[in-house]
Amino acid sequence: MSQEPAIVFRDVWKIYRSGRVEYPALRGVSFTVGRGEYVGLVGPSGSGKSTVINLAGGIDTPTRGEVVVLGENIGEKGEGWRARWRRRSVGIVFQFFHLVPTLNALENVMLPMELAGLYSRRERRERALRLLEFVGLRDKAEKYPGELSGGEQQRVAIARALAADPPIILADEPTANLDTENKKRIIELLDKAHGLGKTIVFSTHDERLAEKAERIINIVDGRVAGEKRRGALQVGGEIVHEEKG
Ligand SMILES: Nc1ncnc2c1ncn2[C@@H]1O[C@H](COP(=O)(O)OP(=O)(O)OP(=O)(O)O)[C@@H](O)[C@H]1O
Ligand SMILES: [Mg+2]
Repeated sequence: MSQEPAIVFRDVWKIYRSGRVEYPALRGVSFTVGRGEYVGLVGPSGSGKSTVINLAGGIDTPTRGEVVVLGENIGEKGEGWRARWRRRSVGIVFQFFHLVPTLNALENVMLPMELAGLYSRRERRERALRLLEFVGLRDKAEKYPGELSGGEQQRVAIARALAADPPIILADEPTANLDTENKKRIIELLDKAHGLGKTIVFSTHDERLAEKAERIINIVDGRVAGEKRRGALQVGGEIVHEEKG
């Protein structure tokens, strides 16, 4: 299993239906993310980035094609199976943080470990405190989401995503609602998580943030329009930036 790639999309189509109208959000997306890779998804609004993240995280299933994550064809599994699988396999960071408002920072970070049945109660607490330390919020462990800034909430969300020690972290525009300083901090934390050996896939509209990734996948109109290793970013078929050396 350790030789399996982290994420494989094979000719993935996602067709949303509302009433009698069908909208193909993904039109044959194929890519592979290796174990330990650090990948940024870029592309215009509506191009399909969130759809890709949701499929990779087993939040949604493809209409056609295969989504194979950690060797499991998750696209053909039922919702209950995917929910259980998700707890140990992926940590997800959302654009609007999605913390549980009635739990404090510490309890939010402990929750995924409880759901996955990992560690003793005391170990969960200690691990959550270490993770809050990791994101620089050890002193705010008792605060509730409503008492934290957006940047702080997103750092708690990153600690939570790491809590059950999943091999994959998915982040859908994790910096979209943050100021420049907090954007940098969040990307630095994703860098650090990558340094821990995690496979990271994040989406962003900010090309400069995307360039922190080792590889950028450009999604346009539900298709992969280009892929670049760090250094040269291709948007809409044009190379807009090239780093020398
Ligand atoms: N539940 C849904 N029902 C119908 N259409 C949807 C649904 N979710 C997404 N879509 C459509 O699918 C397309 C892709 O959406 P997606 O959210 O993946 O884009 P995105 O690249 O993440 O955009 P953004 O950068 O604005 O977040 C869009 O045209 C969107 O309107
Ligand atoms: Mg999106």
